[in-house]
Amino acid sequence: MSHKKLWIPGPTEVREEALQQQTKWMVGHRSGEYTELYESVIGKLVKYFQTEQNVCTQTASGTIWMDITGRCMVKKKALAAACGAFSKRMYQTVADCGKDTTLLDVEWGKAVKTDAVMEELAKEDYDTLIVVHNETSTGIRNPIAEMGKAVKAEYPDMIFVVDAVSSAGGDYLVPEELNSDILFTSTQKCFALPPGLSMACYSDEAVARAEEVPGKGFYTNLLPIHNNWLKRHQNPTTPAISLLYALDHQLSRMLEETPRGRYERHLAMAECTREWANNHFEMFPEKGYESVTVSTIRNTLGKDVAGLNKALAERGHQIANGYGALKEKTFRIGHMGDWTLEDVKSLLANIDEIWGL
Ligand SMILES: Cc1ncc(COP(=O)(O)O)c(C=O)c1O
Repeated sequence: MSHKKLWIPGPTEVREEALQQQTKWMVGHRSGEYTELYESVIGKLVKYFQTEQNVCTQTASGTIWMDITGRCMVKKKALAAACGAFSKRMYQTVADCGKDTTLLDVEWGKAVKTDAVMEELAKEDYDTLIVVHNETSTGIRNPIAEMGKAVKAEYPDMIFVVDAVSSAGGDYLVPEELNSDILFTSTQKCFALPPGLSMACYSDEAVARAEEVPGKGFYTNLLPIHNNWLKRHQNPTTPAISLLYALDHQLSRMLEETPRGRYERHLAMAECTREWANNHFEMFPEKGYESVTVSTIRNTLGKDVAGLNKALAERGHQIANGYGALKEKTFRIGHMGDWTLEDVKSLLANIDEIWGL
């Protein structure tokens, strides 16, 4: 299989050195060697997120946290804001867990605004608020810090769940600054690792809430995850040990670069892509709310995006078409993970040549 450089918003490009980490020998997941590995990973995640909250990994892709939210966080009623495909999935998941869930439906391409959230929260007795930080289908970056502050000032008992699947590890996110109770992400986006593992920062309030909510299942129960860490620094079930080796390795690199350094590199890549897009096309997201990890571009010239990807493949690159109904109407460039500004410029130069821009 030929290697195409992935400019799609996940899975992202994985460095060979990180891939190689997964070839290490297995250890028993109840052994001291494993405990050492998991302690190292958690220690580095705590440093990376600069948090005093609880931190864990769970062997599953990020979506598991939508189920964990539905099963462990929602007591009586949740408000789920949706501004694209993934936030809609979160709403649907929580509703499918049998929880009374109101959808705050925001037009695709627009951000979820704090005022709209506060207005809806005032209407009913909500106990959980669910918002996506970076909506990968539209390239919107929601103002979650401002939102978290306003929500907690008025509703201190509200559990605030943030889907940061396509932003954590690239964008700058500190749970305490966001007032989040659960902030979750996956390995295959800005952490630039293979898929299969999710990571989350969760508050003591989230643990207390889980203790009050019945019907949590096992794999989707936050309590065994939390208690296994407290008791033995391990996991409730057999973890993806190979991925944890890779995560441990990658986190050392990420800490060397620093969370700020990673944010600034992602911002520089996003600004370069936006400038290019605005010269030739238009950005799809509302101005001021553009993602720093994925740029969704409105195909105002009616170019053949599928054709572009075929031509790019011959040059060893792959970008993403628009999501769902936005296919061909938009296209997406995922500048997340370990790519550099120079890499972005080179990709854009290739697109210029192919499309004759
Ligand atoms: C914003 C967002 N949330 C959730 C998901 C689902 O994550 P996973 O595929 O890791 O389950 C994605 C995947 O692209 C995403 O972009």
